[in-house]
Amino acid sequence: MTVSDPIAPVRSLLATANQDPHPFFDAWREQSPLFWDETVNAWLVLSYDQCREVLIAEDRFRHPYADADATLIDVKGGARNITVLQGAEHQRMHRYIARLFSPQNIQLYHERHLLPTTHFLIDRFIERGTADLAAEFADQLPARVFMSLFGMDAHDDIFVARVRELHEIIMKWSGGRQFQGEEMTQLALAASQELNEILLPYIRARRDNPQPDLISRLWAEAPEVLEGVTEDDMLATCRELYLGGTDTTVHALCNAIYLLLTQPDVCRAVNADRGDTMNSFIEEVMRLLGSVQYRYRIANQDCDVGGVAVKRNDVLIVVNAAANRDPQHYGCPAAVDLRRPSSRDHLAFNAGPRSCVGAPLAREEMRVALGALLDRLPQWRLDSEREAPCFAGLFTRSYRPLHIRFGASH
Ligand code: HEM
Repeated sequence: MTVSDPIAPVRSLLATANQDPHPFFDAWREQSPLFWDETVNAWLVLSYDQCREVLIAEDRFRHPYADADATLIDVKGGARNITVLQGAEHQRMHRYIARLFSPQNIQLYHERHLLPTTHFLIDRFIERGTADLAAEFADQLPARVFMSLFGMDAHDDIFVARVRELHEIIMKWSGGRQFQGEEMTQLALAASQELNEILLPYIRARRDNPQPDLISRLWAEAPEVLEGVTEDDMLATCRELYLGGTDTTVHALCNAIYLLLTQPDVCRAVNADRGDTMNSFIEEVMRLLGSVQYRYRIANQDCDVGGVAVKRNDVLIVVNAAANRDPQHYGCPAAVDLRRPSSRDHLAFNAGPRSCVGAPLAREEMRVALGALLDRLPQWRLDSEREAPCFAGLFTRSYRPLHIRFGASH
């Protein structure tokens, strides 16, 4: 891609929706590490070094929720939601939540929640020889894993569908708040209230009668971190874990499955080595296709970013997806390379103080899911008679639908 290509002058993030955005990102990055996008009133940050710089320097570039109003806090489930907290309070909360996903805890979740939920979903279509792995598997797994982790009935389809529906309302509202009217705000507040009512009995039950599960562990460790911990604090944390860990993992799973289905050499290598090669593959999926494509930050002061003058209160859109294919940082950036050195240095889980606390769970969920699909769906292939997958979305993206056919079941 060179500056003379016709897409280079199309300087709008919105114009890349529902198509491969990388030719755009490459053309823009070649001209400058960041540029002003008039359609979204923000700087697009496209190079690896500058994206990292902005994400790490929270004193210079704040998270937009630093300015959260009462409505947003209500919809997020409470003021001690990790994404709303700032400074030392945020760091304490980040460390507290990160402990939930220590290697030891992940091993526990693997046995009790990830494996059974994964196989429960595969059992439902295994006899058919066909499936849409986006709708029937990837869309279902992360939500049900959380329900299982929270001690809820992860097999109850009506309950699962309702919880997913309520979250979709909230995500739709928070994704385009500035364009939405009062009616949508009321819907989001009502959805938040209903989710709180669903969660509260579990939060109270685990406080009064601890079990070997995630909510009980949250209660047990909270007093070390949160002064005067309340039910509302537990609600805010559980709500954010679910919100941060479902849709993101759905897209990552779809993208991983798509790459395995479309790159037979990669699939063979991963199938043959479920250890290091599987781990490298998961990092390459996150680097190449990711899930969350960009994040917002706001400049706290006038400053220079990559030679460009940014003004106080300018909005910066950190395009992690573009950074992850920056040729200044990665050799052969558009290829899957299972031997890439420092395979975890991509920005798909962010970097700096607000890097993803749930990344160990997301990685384990992908390892378990992909391993089970490889084991149980021999000769799986895309169904050429059904709609082909397309890289749909904007803020989050994934290949879907994923109609497949496969051979005899195990
Ligand atoms: C493949 C799946 C995932 C992706 C791509 C992803 C991506 C991200 C990104 C980019 C951020 C930074 C947000 C920002 O501050 O701008 C983030 C933060 C966060 N993620 Fe994830 N995430 C994933 C899975 C999960 C899971 C499974 C959980 C919960 C178990 C989770 C919980 C969180 C939380 C609580 C934060 C806020 C961290 C903080 O503010 O300190 N995420 N994630």
